[in-house]
This record gives sequence, C-alpha cells and structure tokens, in this order.
Amino acid sequence: MDTPIIVAAFAGLLVVISLLQPLARRLGLAPSVLLAGVGTLIGLLAAFLLYTPTTDAFNELAMVFVNLPFDSQKILYIFLPVLLFQSTLTLDVRRIFEDIGAILVMAVVAVVVATAFIGLALYPLAGVPLVACLLLGAIVATTDPVAVVAIFRDIGAPARLGRLVEGESLLNDAAAIVLFVLLLGMLTSQQTPDAVEAVVTFLRSFAGGIVVGALFARLFVMLLPLMREQKLAQVTLSLALPYLVYVVSEQSADVSAVVAVVAAGIVFNLYGPARVAPAAWSYLHDVWEQIAFWASSLIFVLASILIPELLAGFKLLDILLLVVLIVAALAARAVVIFGLLPVLGVLRIGEAVSNRYKTVILWGGMRGAVTLTLALSVTEHPSLSEDVQHFIAVLATGFVLFTLLVYGTTLKRLIRALKLNTLTPLDIAMRKQFLALALSDVREAVDDAARDYNIAPEVAEKLSTNYSSQASTAVEDNVLAEEIMDRERVVLGLVALADRERVLILRHFHEGTVSNRTIASHLTLAGRIADQTRSKGRVGYNRAARSALAYGPTFRFAQWLQRHLKIDGLLSVMVADRFERLLIGRIVIKELIEFNDERIRPLLGERVAGILHETLAIRREDNLRGLEGLQLQYPDYAQALEYEFLRRTGLRLEEQAYSEAFTQKLIGSELYNDLQRSVSTARDRTRVRPRLDLGLKTRDLVDGHPLFADLPDTRREAIARLMRPYFAVPGETLIRKGEKGDAAYFISSGAVEVRTPHGPLRLGRGDVFGEMALLSGKPRTADVAALGYCQLLVLGAGDFRALMKQSPDIAENMARIARQREEMNVPDATSEHVPPAALDVAP
Ligand code: CMP
Repeated sequence: MDTPIIVAAFAGLLVVISLLQPLARRLGLAPSVLLAGVGTLIGLLAAFLLYTPTTDAFNELAMVFVNLPFDSQKILYIFLPVLLFQSTLTLDVRRIFEDIGAILVMAVVAVVVATAFIGLALYPLAGVPLVACLLLGAIVATTDPVAVVAIFRDIGAPARLGRLVEGESLLNDAAAIVLFVLLLGMLTSQQTPDAVEAVVTFLRSFAGGIVVGALFARLFVMLLPLMREQKLAQVTLSLALPYLVYVVSEQSADVSAVVAVVAAGIVFNLYGPARVAPAAWSYLHDVWEQIAFWASSLIFVLASILIPELLAGFKLLDILLLVVLIVAALAARAVVIFGLLPVLGVLRIGEAVSNRYKTVILWGGMRGAVTLTLALSVTEHPSLSEDVQHFIAVLATGFVLFTLLVYGTTLKRLIRALKLNTLTPLDIAMRKQFLALALSDVREAVDDAARDYNIAPEVAEKLSTNYSSQASTAVEDNVLAEEIMDRERVVLGLVALADRERVLILRHFHEGTVSNRTIASHLTLAGRIADQTRSKGRVGYNRAARSALAYGPTFRFAQWLQRHLKIDGLLSVMVADRFERLLIGRIVIKELIEFNDERIRPLLGERVAGILHETLAIRREDNLRGLEGLQLQYPDYAQALEYEFLRRTGLRLEEQAYSEAFTQKLIGSELYNDLQRSVSTARDRTRVRPRLDLGLKTRDLVDGHPLFADLPDTRREAIARLMRPYFAVPGETLIRKGEKGDAAYFISSGAVEVRTPHGPLRLGRGDVFGEMALLSGKPRTADVAALGYCQLLVLGAGDFRALMKQSPDIAENMARIARQREEMNVPDATSEHVPPAALDVAP
C-alpha cells in the first residue's frame, strides 16, 4: 500500500473524529457511540467501494480500511501503554490508597468472577475450546468508568464512590490483561490448563510487574530535574516511560507488562509533581490528555471499521452467544457489586454503598477502548484458528457496542428513575451560595475593569447593579430558605471553607510559595476535609483537620529506623515536611479566617459565621501549638524555612515586575531574558530545602549533657559508646507505671512530664529519669511522657549497671536522686515540694 494513501486515510479519520465531538455534544450522546457508528459506516463504505464493479477509483483508499495496516501485535504495543498510563495520571492516587484494600479485592475478584461466569456460560454453546471462552471473558471483564464517573460528578455523588469505581476500573484493566495474556499463552501453545500453575503465574507476573514499573518510574522521576524549565523535554521523557516499561517487562523481565505500566504511572504521578515546575506538570497532563484522546478515538474507529467484515460471517448462533454473554456479564457484575461490596463494608475495608448507587454502578459497566484493543489484537493472531478469532472478535465488539448503545444511552434515565439526581435542600442552598459568591466576585472585577478602562460611571453602574441585584437575590433566597436549619448552614459554611482551602493551596502552589514537595499532601488534606465535612458535618471537619497534626505510619516507621538502626535521614525529612506543612497551615488558616469574615458572614449570617470562626480558631491554635513545639527545638531551622518561604514570594514578585516592564517595553528582550534566567536559577535553588539536622549524634549529646560535661574526654567517649540517641515527639509516652524497667533516660534537650502520686512534675535538660526501677529492681514508679520534642540518651539496663560499677561518682549521684524521689513519692507526704528533711521534723 502507498504511504501517501495511508496518511491521507488517517488524516481523514482525524477530521471525522474531531467533527464528531461537537455533534455528540449536540445529540447528548457519548462520543464513543458516534465513533463506533461512523466507524461501522466507513467499514461498510470501504467494502462497498472495493468490491463494487461500478468504480475502481477509490480502491486504494478503500483497501487501507479493509486491510488495516496494523497487525495484532502493533495494536497492543501502540495503544495499550498510553491508554493505561494516561488513566493513572488523572487519578487522585493518595486518596485511592486510602481504599486500596477494597479496590484491589473488587478489581481482582470482579475480573476472575466475570471471566469464569462468561467462559463457563458460553462453553456449552460456542463450539470452541473452554480456554477461548475464558479468553473472551477476560477481554470483556475490563470496564470503562468514564461515563459513570462523569455522571457521579454531575449528580454530586460522594467523591469516594467515584474514586472507588475509577480505581477499580484501572486495576481491573491490569488484572484482566494479565489473565488475557495467560489464557492466550495457553491457547496458542495448546497446553492443558493447570489451575495451580495458572494462579502462581498470575500472582508472580502481577507482583513482578509492580516492581519493574515502580523502579523504572522512580528512575525517570529522578531524571526529570535534569531538564529543569524545559517542559517539552520532560513530557517527551514521560512519553517514553510507558513504552519502555512495557517492552522491558514483556521481553526481558517476563512480568506483566500492563501491571508494570500501571504501577509506573502511579509512581510517576506520586513523585513527579515534586520534581518539575507546576506549570510544566499541568502541561504534561494536557499533552497526555490529548494523546489518550487520539488513542482511544482511533481504537474505536478502527475496531468498528472491522464490524461489517466481521458481520459478514455473522451467524444466527452469534446472536444467541451475544445474549448469553450479556446476561453472564451482568450476572457476574451483580454478584460482585451486591455480594462482595457489602462483605467489604462489614470487614470495614470499604464504605457502605447504597443500593441505588450499586444499581448505577452495575448498569454503568460500559466497555471501551481496552476491550476493543484486546479484541483487535486477537483477530489476526497467526496461531489462533479462524473460528476462535471470529468468535472473540464478533462477540467482544458486539458486546462493547451493546454496552455503549444500551447502557450508555439509558444510564441518565436510570439515574432519574432512582431519583439520584434530585437535589437536597442543602445542595440547592449550596448552589445558591456559590452563585452569590461568584456573582459578587464578578461585580468587583467588573468595577475594577471599568475603572481601568475609564468607562463612564453611569455605564459601569448599570452592569454593576445588575450583578449585585442577582447576587442579593441569591443571598435572600438562601437566607430565607426556611427548611435549612442552622446546623445545616454550618455544614454549608464548612464545605465552602474546605473548597476554599483547596483553591488557596493551589494558588500558593502556582505562586511558588508552597513547595512542590508538600503540595500533594496539602491537597490530600483539603480533599479529605471536604469529603468528611460533606459526610459527617462539623465533627468530620474537625477530625480531618486534626489528622494533619497526627504522626502517621511513615513517621513512626522513620522513628523506628532512627531508634533501632540509627538511620535518621528519613526522620529528618519527615520532621522538615511537618515543619513546612505547619508553616503553610498557619498562612492558609489565616486566609480562611479572613474569607469567613469577609465572604461567608454576609451570606450565612452572624451566628453561623461565629461558629465557623470558632472552628477555625481552634484549628489555628492546634496548628500553632504544633509549630511552636518545633520552633522551640529547632529555632534556626524554623528561621531558615521562613526565610526560604519569603524568598520564594520575593522571586515571584521579581518575575512579575520584570514581565510587566517587558510588556510595557521598558526593557528590551535581551535584558528581560537575562533577568528571567537569573530568577529561574534562583528558583531552582529554592527547590532544594535546607537540611534539618536533628542533632542526634551520641557523642555530641553526651558532651552537651550537664551530668557528664565535667568528665574527662576519655570517660565521655566510653559513656557515649553505651548510649543510644532517641528522638521523642510531643505527647509520646516513654515510661509506663508498673512496667519492668529496661533503660534509663538522660534528657539532652526538651522536657518531659512525670506523673507522680502528688501530681505532674516537669523534668528538663540535664535531668535523668527511669533510674529508680533499675536501681531498686522494682516496677516503674510513674508514667513519663514527652512534653515537646526531646533529644534523649538511652542507657539499657545492663549498660546502666556497668556504668554504675565503673563510675562510683555517677552511681552515688544516681542513688541520691533516686532516694530523694522515692521519699517524695511516699503516699503520706502532704506536699510534693517539701524536701524530705523537712518532713522528718514535722510534728
Ligand atoms: P522509674 O521508677 O524507673 O520510672 C518512672 C520514673 O519517673 C522514675 O524512675 C523516676 O526517674 C521518675 N520519677 C518518679 N518520681 C519522681 C519524682 N518525684 N520526681 C522526679 N522524677 C520522678
């Protein structure tokens, strides 16, 4: 075939694809439905032109479509990596990890159930081997959630439900394709299926895929900063990633290429944003959206072009098989959704999903580009018999079309019938509130614009009053909505605050004040606050807000590493992250308080705004306390961070000033470029955060401890060899009353609280605790907890005894301290601060 003809044919397809988009919007249909329809027509037309005796003029062009210049392998290689990679990029990966248990179970189990149901249902009728039936099952087991997720978003379904469906669909693509590859292998090599071996291979290639994909993605993420400020190069690198991962996994590593691509996408999405400029990351997203659009549209058209040819061999039996396939697929999905989801709910690894939503998820099980890609890849497989090729291609394509034409066109009606689209009074109020806020924003902007452009006040006034009267109608409607209780109004306000928080954080991100490193965790927090507020009101808001201050599993792991393996790199990063988070938290909360006073108060009234203010004030207090704890322990670092923060703001202002001067032609392009380069170099430097030294070197801590300060160097060296540094966080319990004593603690910095029988006592730098149980051999006499961040030296029980033996002076000191404390703690002692001697002379 001539190259120009092929090129012309594809250019024509692209024209068709683009023109179909506005048409689909006008008709209110999913574009994929139209694409499939038009593809079928093209296929018909091409076949007609090629075989009709009336003219041969179009034969060459028609040939392109009748004999597509792709073979099965090419289709998989070209389309699959980009389709999968792109769908991981749009996911809110961190939030999905919160539900990863439910999603994994759903995805893997759903695929296996669907494959089994469909395969076994078709086998008795189909006249092809069982493995071929199962293969078809695997091909149609992947779901395409785009339509359902879009509808969920439209009707304001819980965001978590959308994530569940999206996450499930991505992983079920992976699981289905692993199964597909496995079954195809069996079918082509004519091996008899061995269940155990199949399961082992399945798991091995799944796990191996994750490892390979994650490793490659980490490597590529590390390469990104080499191309700083060069977004074109960065996007190009990202395009190479899925293909490279795909080929290496399949050809060299012998693991699942699809799982590897998905894993690579997830890892890239998790760590990428921290390594490139914000604008470059959104550019990357846009380019990928475009690529995936091309890929999925082309797949749809290409697959449907084949339909007429496939239908040529269509037998009556095929209709029967298609019906069986549809019923079996629906049954399998129903079993998973209605049978498995509730079980997950009981096991507390998933949210309870109402039956109405379940019905929508069931009916929303449309199949899309991935199914078609797999089906296409089988049609020309050299080692498959024609019967099998025909069986799979006809049924898979027919099924995709069925789901699109039937489910796709009726889903909205179903939602209306289930009354999922009716707005609650709260929703209505929220919309009005939004409208009022937006309109008053617009009014201000219009006023500003009128001033800027010197438009006569009378003229401006007309438009401005128009906006303010619209805004106030919205406000009045809202305030007058009797059915909305105060409590609901508070929730309304909190939701507005949560949404605002997201906007503020994104603004800081784009202005460069929030570092790339922490943006993701800020956004996750804002998302969690919004979700929890929507589902649990004020309690949810407070709980989610407080979670920002909790020490998560990674932090505890970092502490464990420091304590047991003396690796403090991760801990130092975690503490620095926390520092940064609290710093931005302080700024954002302040902005939220202003937002509440200026914007929410006029809308929701004094009382509600007061409650919101109080909620925010508590949050501010908590945040401040957290920040002060860190500042107290690491004052220099706190200053360094604040300086960096200000410096980033300065750079942004510099940039603005230069570009303004340039657009006003005050400076030439040469100077402007120079200045811009210097700003961008300086900005690159701010991306490297100052390192936080936790100060956990044993020797330094011993040297700085008052108890050992006067000892000769060699003795301190010997003591340091016995000690372990320990980093304690505020509130951490270090010793529990009644337990067996296993170590003594020397405080190098920070403070702890001892809960003695006569009330709490504070110990600080230079003090020791935990010595009493070691000296007496009795259980611990009190609870001891850290008040702030502390640097401690820990001396194990055995080493403690050794030290006492070596150093009579220290031993005597310890014994004296312990004796005094013991006497202080006797139950009949009336005052905790009266020294023991004074008690003796009491009457
Ligand atoms: P131990 O009994 O091993 O564990 C609890 C520790 O709290 C104890 O050792 C002392 O180090 C400390 N402790 C108990 N009572 C007092 C006190 N009255 N004053 C200061 N420290 C105390």
